[in-house]
Order: sequence, then structure tokens, then C-alpha cells
Amino acid sequence: MKRKTWIAALSLASLLMLLGISIVWLTQANRVKRPDGSISSASAPALTGKEIVVRNVTKETVAYTVKPLISAGVPEKRSLKPGGMDRFAAKRSLVLTYSRLGSEVTETLFPGTPYCFRYDENNLVHLYLGSHMREDAEDLAPYVSTPTEVAEKMLEMAQVGSADVVYDLGCGDGRLVILAAKKFGARGVGVDIVPRRIKEAKAAARKAGVENLVKFSLEDAMKTDFSEATVLALYLLPESNALLRPRFESLLKPGARIVTHDYTIPGWDDKRVASAAIKDPTGKNHTIFLYHR
Ligand SMILES: C[S@@+](CC[C@H](N)C(=O)[O-])C[C@H]1O[C@@H](n2cnc3c(N)ncnc32)[C@H](O)[C@@H]1O
Repeated sequence: MKRKTWIAALSLASLLMLLGISIVWLTQANRVKRPDGSISSASAPALTGKEIVVRNVTKETVAYTVKPLISAGVPEKRSLKPGGMDRFAAKRSLVLTYSRLGSEVTETLFPGTPYCFRYDENNLVHLYLGSHMREDAEDLAPYVSTPTEVAEKMLEMAQVGSADVVYDLGCGDGRLVILAAKKFGARGVGVDIVPRRIKEAKAAARKAGVENLVKFSLEDAMKTDFSEATVLALYLLPESNALLRPRFESLLKPGARIVTHDYTIPGWDDKRVASAAIKDPTGKNHTIFLYHR
């Protein structure tokens, strides 16, 4: 009887240990680097019947291999052209492996989640977690907010005043537009593709008492009509600024100012009129670029 109890206790302990190891391993495998350099744990793996999408927004073909998470089979070799997208009708997680500086990087991909090959701050290709779960819209940037001090400096550099209409494409919690209204009396419009961000922005506008001056809409920034904007305040990745550039050229009136946080507008060097470096209270460096349409 005693021996049986011991065996049962030992089996239970081994089972719990195995479960613990699997959880730790799965959590680690799900760590994906964000463009700001931070590591994010993707939201809990949703093992539904949804697909996995991998985009390549770099300028080079990316070679990688992919296989089901639980499989002893040979990984499938894939080659993704610039601008291309691979879709996997995966019911279970996949393991993707690619090469970076000569070593292999392995990530676990979860069904219903978008991923993206992008350049990091050192111009090396990295797999990032998509910022939104929409397959019908460009993933312009993950959600990383601009520190208030940087936001203030951006608006000062653009010389925002009460006659201005400030647009933020990918507005996050709306801080740039709200600050422009509160501190400089400007009208403002913010759009974001994530419903939660728009909810936060509307609540923040109410709290700041500037609801009469600002508007927030849930929409794809690639489709926003910002022709009334006199100032664009942006914090998007450079390839996203490049994607939007033809719209800046067709929609903005001459004289409009575009102020960007950290990333330039590729192909607009001749329109750049100023840049500034600023440290946030944590000591992190930020750069601001000002353009005149
Ligand atoms: C780096 S954050 C910037 C937030 C805010 N502008 C700031 O500076 O604090 C980029 C934002 O763009 C949004 N975004 C990404 N793709 C988008 C798209 N296609 N249309 C609208 N917003 C998008 C993300 O949801 C995210 O909130």
C-alpha cells in the first residue's frame, strides 16, 4: 500500500514537471522581437483553425524553413520575395527557422497571428510579430508610443498652432493629436487600425477636455483622406512611410509639414528641413525629422 502511494506520488510529480517544462519552453519559443528592440511574448497561442501569415517587407528575398511544431519530419524550404506573403492554413503552431548573421533563429508561429520579416535598427532582417490581426491591411508599425517629451518637441518643431489641423496616421492612444489640441489649440484627427487604441484615444481626449477639437477613427491609414491636414505627426516604420509617400504627395497641400519620430521618409531627402536628437526621461535617444511638402 505504501509502495503504491509512493509510485503514484512520483508519477504525479514527473507529470507536473513535464507540464512545467513544456509551458516554459512554449513561452520562450513565442518571444518575438519588436522593431523598437524590445521582446514581446505573443498573445496566448490560439489553436484555432485560423491561418498563419508571414509577410516580407524587406528589399531582399528571405529564405526560411517551416514545419509543424510537433513533427519529426523534414522542414519545408521556403523563399519569400520582397513584398511577398506566405499563408499557411495551420490548425497547430509551426516552427519557422531563418538565418541571421550566420546563426539559425527559430520562432514558434501561432495560428491566427500575422508575422513579418522587417529590418531592425541595425538593418538586419528579423521576424516580427504583426501589430494587428488584419490580413486585408498593411501592418504599418507595432504599437510603441512616443514619450510625451518627444511628442512635445515634434509639435514644436512643426510649429503647430491653433490654425493647424494635425493628423496622426497610426495614432495609438492619441497622445500626439491630444497634445496638439491641449497645448497648441490645434484641431486634430487620429486613425488607428486597432479598436482598443481608438477606445483609449477617445477616453484620453475626454479626460484632457479636448473632445471638441479632436476626432479618432478606426480605419486603415492607407485609406485615410488626410487632404485637410496642415501637419502630419507620424511614428511609423520607414518602409511604411515609403508606402504612404505617394499619398503624401497627392493629398497634402504644398507647405504642409510632416514630422516623424525616429524614422525617415525614404525618397524625401530633398524635402527634409530639420532634424533633432532628444533623450527621453529613461535616457533613450530619439530622433525627430521635419519635412515640408
Ligand atoms: C509606433 S505606434 C505609434 C503610436 C502613436 N502615433 C505615437 O506616436 O504614440 C504605430 C501605430 O500604428 C498602428 N497601425 C499599424 N498599421 C496600421 C494601419 N494600416 N492603419 C492604421 N494604423 C495602423 C498601430 O496599431 C500602432 O498603434
